[in-house]
Amino acid sequence: MAKPDPWHFTRKDAAQRTFMLIEKRLATALLLFGPRRMGKTEFLRQDVGPLAEKAGHRVVYVSFWQAPLAPAATMIAALDHALRHGSLADQLRNQAQGLRPKVRLGGAVAGAEAHAEIDLAGIPEAPSGDVLLAMDALLGKLARKGKPTLLLLDEVQELALDPKNRPFVAALRTSLDTRRDGLAAIFTGSSREGLAAMFSDRAAPFFHFATSIDLEPLGPPFVTHLLDAFEKATGERLDAKAALAAFESLDRSPYFFRMLLEQLLPLPKRDIPAALLRLREGLAAALGYDRLWLSLTSVQRALTATLARGAAAPFGEANRAEIGRLVGAATPTIAQTQSALRRLTRLGILDKAGPRGGWTFDDPEFARWVAGLPDEAF
Ligand SMILES: Nc1ncnc2c1ncn2[C@@H]1O[C@H](COP(=O)(O)OP(=O)(O)OP(=O)(O)O)[C@@H](O)[C@H]1O
Ligand SMILES: [Mg+2]
Repeated sequence: MAKPDPWHFTRKDAAQRTFMLIEKRLATALLLFGPRRMGKTEFLRQDVGPLAEKAGHRVVYVSFWQAPLAPAATMIAALDHALRHGSLADQLRNQAQGLRPKVRLGGAVAGAEAHAEIDLAGIPEAPSGDVLLAMDALLGKLARKGKPTLLLLDEVQELALDPKNRPFVAALRTSLDTRRDGLAAIFTGSSREGLAAMFSDRAAPFFHFATSIDLEPLGPPFVTHLLDAFEKATGERLDAKAALAAFESLDRSPYFFRMLLEQLLPLPKRDIPAALLRLREGLAAALGYDRLWLSLTSVQRALTATLARGAAAPFGEANRAEIGRLVGAATPTIAQTQSALRRLTRLGILDKAGPRGGWTFDDPEFARWVAGLPDEAF
């Protein structure tokens, strides 16, 4: 067993609610939505996964984020490893250590060619039917009636970005559909736009397949838990009120709040507002905001800035005129502005705010940084 992470705050109720849907067979596929860096991955790996495992279910974790292999290969590698080694902790350790380029599929899985070897690195993004059959066979081996095997599929918005992934996504859906009694899945991703493309598009294979659940933002109990952990590590108790205010100001992001505590660790004076200031000053370099900014065209930059400063109608006459002013050029057309916005969504900077429309920043700290830039920055 891996040592439990003392900083981890268990979202017990949410995990139980989520798991219950699967255990009681109320859903076979769940779509867990939450903005970036709000703890979806930790929730799957450290809360829901272990809970299901304790209840006797097999659990498989797969992440599609920046995976070096094609999605089908990433999936096959994870399924194969889960079959051979079992526990979630073991899978996570293995995934952190790197990949084996080949998978040997035995007996039933390989079909006629027993013990055929699949070269994972050779699997293209649009995989052949054989590869998809091998994936289905592995899923069949993992499926367990009565105690469905739980697939935790993380960062699936990556799959929606490229139409080349369609056959893989369709095959995955079919496999899950035909093994409803033995398999269940939780899909997670941060881009509402990307997930909507995968799950709500009528032409896309996951239409109306998954039940959506939202991961609620963390609140004061999370802050208290981290202050306890900080006290255990340092012997010092931080000011709870200042800590909570900082957490709110960081849009309740566990990621940034933990960064803040890390800033405080080596400091002799535990001044939370000062540490927050320092954190914000360092973010541009630490998270590459400056590099991202420079990779944008001037219209994209100006559009980003107007939205960060609160513009509600990005394509409206007034906003386009403001973009023109910031760039020092003619007012861009609606089409040019739309094209800039599309690029910003593809880059994961902006996302659809929700079913009622509007746009939000994926990373509110980036928005804050952009809003504070001087007019010369365009
Ligand atoms: N329950 C938690 N307890 C303590 N820290 C947490 C918790 N959840 C998240 N964090 C902190 O926030 C960071 C980001 O969390 P995580 O990677 O799970 O977010 P995410 O929603 O999956 O983000 P992304 O959308 O970028 O994949 C973690 O690395 C950890 O430092
Ligand atoms: Mg994640």
